[in-house]
Amino acid sequence: MELIHRALERRAALLERLAAEGTDGVRLLHGIAEGRPGLTVDRYGSVLLLQTGRDVLEPGEVEAIAETVQGALGVELVPVYNHRPAWRAGFETVYPAPSLDDPEVLEGGLRFDARPRHRGLDPLLFLDLRHVRRRVRAHGAASVLNLFAYTCGVSVMAAAGGASDVWSVDFASSSLAVGEANAVRNGVPFHAVCEDVFPAVRQLAGMPLGGRRGRRPDCVKLAARDFELVVLDPPRFAKSRWGVVDLVRDYAALFKPAVRCVAPDGVIVATNNVAKVELEAWLDGLRRCARKAGRELLDIEVLPPDEDFPSFDGRPPLKVAWCRVA
Ligand SMILES: C[S@@+](CC[C@H](N)C(=O)[O-])C[C@H]1O[C@@H](n2cnc3c(N)ncnc32)[C@H](O)[C@@H]1O
Repeated sequence: MELIHRALERRAALLERLAAEGTDGVRLLHGIAEGRPGLTVDRYGSVLLLQTGRDVLEPGEVEAIAETVQGALGVELVPVYNHRPAWRAGFETVYPAPSLDDPEVLEGGLRFDARPRHRGLDPLLFLDLRHVRRRVRAHGAASVLNLFAYTCGVSVMAAAGGASDVWSVDFASSSLAVGEANAVRNGVPFHAVCEDVFPAVRQLAGMPLGGRRGRRPDCVKLAARDFELVVLDPPRFAKSRWGVVDLVRDYAALFKPAVRCVAPDGVIVATNNVAKVELEAWLDGLRRCARKAGRELLDIEVLPPDEDFPSFDGRPPLKVAWCRVA
């Protein structure tokens, strides 16, 4: 358990800061970057979520890790172990699900659904995006477009920061339903567009949907408009009947319409979580793409992750570009 002790020691200052801001969701061990490939240990409020993607934990390891963490943090946590094999054929449960009463995680004093077992594989709030949510809230834009919204963590933060006009776009109605419940539990406004991002963002940008007339499937009709802040946090790869999300080969397919939805003097926050994509090359691509779309990026600020997502070489796989748009 030396590994866990060291990881917790490294986080001492962060844990204090998070407690002060009203946050109890934190990554406590970050896989290979902290000496244990394939294992992550997260605290989500009262839940201690252990996840493996390759090797299954040895018998007794879950309990030993939980005991170490609880001893060090001085809190009682319910351990849940989810093994997520790479073939993604559903959850292979190798640890009995404890009964949990609608667990929640706190972030900046706001409450989010933290059920560790649900119909999807991923946790319902991605902890590695905490710094983006914090920044979006502090920015205080009045209107926000959240593309690939998932369970709408960014949207709820934006609304808590004063935005009255927040649109959450995702084609998964089940994720948006969790997002709506997150908004309700925090008493903030919510507006979902349950649609593929491609036709939604192209319409908002005033761009044609493409394809021969009559050959395109139906989609939600939207009028062109802009937003003070646009958040573009797509998955690494996803195919739909409208297009391909491919963060290695074609980021521009998303960034071009998204940047056209930004109001003058607004901001677009773009992410890319593919490790092999180099930061500088990706940023150059964003600048070029914006120019081609008729927009200028005035400056780009790269947001480093919080310290619970360490990387070996200071080059985190999740790159976040906060871009001011002319
Ligand atoms: C990695 S999550 C995005 C995380 C999210 N931005 C957050 O703040 O937690 C990926 C999401 O993209 C959605 N998605 C993937 N392809 C899509 C598409 N073409 N149109 C709309 N949603 C899509 C999935 O349903 C899923 O909710």
